[in-house]
Amino acid sequence: MVITIDGPAGVGKTTTAKRLASKLGYQYLDTGAMYRAVTYFLRKNFIDISSEVHVKKMLDILNLELDFTSDDEIKVLLDNVDISTLIRSKEITSAVSEVSAIKAVREKMVKIQKDTAKNGNFIVEGRDIGTVVFPDAKYKFFLTADYDVRAQRRLEDFKRVNEELNVNKIKQDLTDRDQYDSSRKLSPLKQAKDAIVIDTSTCTIDDQVNQIFKHIERN
Ligand code: DC
Repeated sequence: MVITIDGPAGVGKTTTAKRLASKLGYQYLDTGAMYRAVTYFLRKNFIDISSEVHVKKMLDILNLELDFTSDDEIKVLLDNVDISTLIRSKEITSAVSEVSAIKAVREKMVKIQKDTAKNGNFIVEGRDIGTVVFPDAKYKFFLTADYDVRAQRRLEDFKRVNEELNVNKIKQDLTDRDQYDSSRKLSPLKQAKDAIVIDTSTCTIDDQVNQIFKHIERN
């Protein structure tokens, strides 16, 4: 079974998905990490992303693996090298929206996501999971939060990978990225009609997880 959690950056999707997965005995899949990994791969190889031909060629040789063996984190491996921390940098964060808007990239990632989750119990988090990847999922959630709260949370994320950024700059980046992710032609960030919306602005992570958990228990 698949449970989908969508929403913009900084609303607590990943932490919620991880906690919920451990509470339910499911695995969790962070699809944003996959788009970040492709972005890292294309940049590392100096690929001009405006050339669909070049991007497609690179996608054919992409050797991306997700390692679910650790309890806490999914490890993202590129050519058997763990890039889980590298994909959280400012550089990748500012480049990922553009890469994730490329058709060939989305097709490849969506296929991997479907193949990965089809044989198990997964919490899958992203932007288009309830609308495009698993439109038939029984439980769909869409998380939101105020910009100030989201910017503060992202600041903490950057500190964790030793990058310092000004909170106002983060807020501006979040606004730009939301605008880009929501207005792109392919699979934009959008709430599924049948998704339950949870505003996490004033919630602790425990509150968010419990709200989702209660909903699943009731239905
Ligand atoms: O959740 P995140 O910040 O790690 O996601 C990184 C980027 O990937 C985000 O700007 C939008 C894109 N993304 C996407 O287009 N579709 C998904 N299912 C997940 C992420």
